[in-house]
Amino acid sequence: MKVLVIGNGGREHALAWKLLRSPQVGQVVCVPGNGGTATMARCQNIPLAVDDFAGISQYAIDHRISLVVVGPEVPLAKGITDYLQDKGLKVFGPTRAGAKIEASKAWAKALMQEAGIPTAKAAVFTEAAAAKSYVQAQGAPIVVKADGLAAGKGVIVAATVEEAQNAIETIFQGQFGSAGEFIVIEECLIGQEVSVLAITDGITIRPLLPAQDHKRIGEGDTGENTGGMGAYAPAPIATPAIMDRVQTEVLERAIAALKAKGIDYRGILYAGLMISPDGNFKVLEFNCRFGDPETQVILPLLATPLEELILACVEQRLNELPPITWHEGASATVVAASGGYPGDYEKGKVITGIAEGEAKGVTVFHAGTKLNEQHQIVTDGGRVLNVTAVGDNFEQALATAYIGLQSIQFEGMYYRKDIGHRVLNQ
Ligand code: AMP
Ligand code: GLY
Repeated sequence: MKVLVIGNGGREHALAWKLLRSPQVGQVVCVPGNGGTATMARCQNIPLAVDDFAGISQYAIDHRISLVVVGPEVPLAKGITDYLQDKGLKVFGPTRAGAKIEASKAWAKALMQEAGIPTAKAAVFTEAAAAKSYVQAQGAPIVVKADGLAAGKGVIVAATVEEAQNAIETIFQGQFGSAGEFIVIEECLIGQEVSVLAITDGITIRPLLPAQDHKRIGEGDTGENTGGMGAYAPAPIATPAIMDRVQTEVLERAIAALKAKGIDYRGILYAGLMISPDGNFKVLEFNCRFGDPETQVILPLLATPLEELILACVEQRLNELPPITWHEGASATVVAASGGYPGDYEKGKVITGIAEGEAKGVTVFHAGTKLNEQHQIVTDGGRVLNVTAVGDNFEQALATAYIGLQSIQFEGMYYRKDIGHRVLNQ
């Protein structure tokens, strides 16, 4: 079968790579894809925008695409699933109504409160004065969130009341456009974050392996927030006891609450959790899609063919599949970023040594890369490559990832040297 993957990041390269490892999948088409998907065997890129629904649907119909897998949240929130389903296509990813669980933090918070899902105490505001007086009364630290999609930049963890009030000002002044019409202000939680992604067909819910990512740019988890500088799975902090509670107290309650609103949620439901030092947890956010870079470490460990899982989900027969199986061991990815990221950086730097790195045992998922006119792979974004390895344990997986990384070069390349420090020092 032929599968179309929407998106152009490391997550989508990993999805395409995993799909192609199944004998049932003959070809993958990425829209628009990146340098990695352009150069992978049996994979090709089609230069359409992720929100060109008419173009994507025409392409999928003309080329007999059996399945469309949507990577990013933006097309889901804009209703790509509804649109393509109306044209008779099979699509993995929730409808516009379901994607609201990520696209509106205020809506998601209300759903969590109604459903009794453990989450941080919060209040929603539509104007600055009330928001500021709430912050004044609560004190700091406190978290200020723009309601809508803001590419991961709409959350400010404020250490002082002043910082929170400045954040309220900038959001209401329109820094995030319509994403900032509402503000959610919530209590600041402490602990370790973990991502639990589950695949669901709206009836059956099957969690994937829990993963952790490193969000900060600097070693020791310091400095500015990024889209993620590395990740690993399975995260030991999400013990079987915690995973059982996540299933009943988070995932099942969320799906039931969505169903009560008439939403038949099919796709990935991603719960971002904060696990406190005493072992309790609260939900920080829901996402309506695979995580990036979590997917790049979860999929290499998946033994069940991915397209089988996805098709069963789309066709609402997940309960008929045997339990998901996983390879033993651990998986880790280290992100190679452009110098200057998450601030300004240059693009177009030639990348060398990927094949040499892969010869040393890593799989390199491309994120911000493209193929230039001379057929060279060049940098095209802040996070450039996800250098990924599987091993018997975290020590091995991380050591292999860093050995593979030694072969890879581009001008200004930056990576953190301490990915996985929490799991190595346990
Ligand atoms: P979100 O998009 O809501 O997950 O927020 C992005 C990031 O902000 C999270 O991954 C956390 O690192 C941080 N964050 C969000 N909410 C809170 C909170 N209530 N307490 C502490 N940190 C938070
Ligand atoms: N790794 C965070 C996310 O995908 O939202």
